[in-house]
Amino acid sequence: MTTIPVSLGRRSYDVTIEAGALAEAGTRLKRYAPRGRFVIVTDANVAMVQLPTLLASLQGAGIAIEPIVLPAGESTKSWAELAMLCDRLLDLGIERSDNVIALGGGVIGDLVGFACAILKRGCGFVQVPTTLLAQVDSSVGGKTAINTAAGKNLVGAFHQPSHVLIDPDTLDTLPRREVAAGYAEVVKYGLIDDSAFFGWCEANGQALLAGDREARTHAIATSIAAKARIVAADERETTGVRALLNLGHTFGHALEAETGFGERLLHGEGVACGMALAFRYSARLGLCPAEDAERVSRHLAAAGLPVTLAEAGADAPGETLVGHMLHDKKMAGGKLPFLLARGIGQTFLARDVDLADVAKFLDEERRL
Ligand SMILES: NC(=O)c1ccc[n+]([C@@H]2O[C@H](COP(=O)([O-])OP(=O)(O)OC[C@H]3O[C@@H](n4cnc5c(N)ncnc54)[C@H](O)[C@@H]3O)[C@@H](O)[C@H]2O)c1
Ligand SMILES: [Zn+2]
Repeated sequence: MTTIPVSLGRRSYDVTIEAGALAEAGTRLKRYAPRGRFVIVTDANVAMVQLPTLLASLQGAGIAIEPIVLPAGESTKSWAELAMLCDRLLDLGIERSDNVIALGGGVIGDLVGFACAILKRGCGFVQVPTTLLAQVDSSVGGKTAINTAAGKNLVGAFHQPSHVLIDPDTLDTLPRREVAAGYAEVVKYGLIDDSAFFGWCEANGQALLAGDREARTHAIATSIAAKARIVAADERETTGVRALLNLGHTFGHALEAETGFGERLLHGEGVACGMALAFRYSARLGLCPAEDAERVSRHLAAAGLPVTLAEAGADAPGETLVGHMLHDKKMAGGKLPFLLARGIGQTFLARDVDLADVAKFLDEERRL
């Protein structure tokens, strides 16, 4: 078992990573059920494949359970589902000292985390992430949100979980395309500031994608250690350190917007293409060696991820894509902070990027 602390003063918590942990949840999570009861919130897909193991383990430890199963998919991160979930949790008599278990991907984690942030002005929750994206990114760091008519994740709160329990074996039932999408966020940590880890990804990425237990566990632990370090340095994204986690996300967000934030392009796929674009743009500006940009694209493509506008299905004029960026919630004072790189493992926050030039670059990319 690997334990990684997230050090945030009174809001500190541990992330434990262990293959087979779900079947041990009774012993691992008992202390988070002070009243001997858990409400578990999950989605319909996860309820079929992973919920039974969790239920059996908690019941075996003498813990009472109330499962709540929501529809799967991004549309569950809505006002309507939030309202229904809050009402049900209140009906179940949830108290501040309770911990609701969020069993699922980033959708369930974000929704449950937000509900717990506002219920009784803040009750506890435990993340049990079951997608690679959630296991390496969204379950840690305390960002919670829903989507509204105005856009994605525009209503939310910072609310840290009490604990994060990660069982890499839950990925056995995750569709391959979702695994690859989550893998983009793994590669991201190497590209941000850990070129040795990017090298590890080049050597072990295929094994990880094929379901190798050791490779999965190592990648998750390395990713979470990086995320924990970055979040501890800048919990609320005020100093610019946490912004590094958005590498590839400004381009990616534009691609997701262009493709309708749905099945056509998964978040991680948008991020993969976004990172490839960020590196190529950095190379075009003379900041980063062209070989590094090529290495990034080659590796992501080998994982089956899109690295060109055409592959991402977002072959729109540069001006249109930059238009989507202007709706990014990171816009501040008419400027969009942009993450660029001086090389693999050398990402930095550029505040003076010329968006007209970015549009020109994207038009050049359309011809690739
Ligand atoms: N809070 C953060 O810091 C943060 C960071 C990144 C992304 N996010 C959010 O995360 C969400 C995306 O998360 P996601 O990619 O995990 O999507 P998701 O939660 O929709 O899960 C993807 C799909 O996989 C299914 N699934 C989940 N686990 C499974 C399993 N073990 N076996 C079989 N099927 C399984 C789900 O039902 C769903 O259909 C987005 O809403 C995004 O905004 C949040
Ligand atoms: Zn992301």
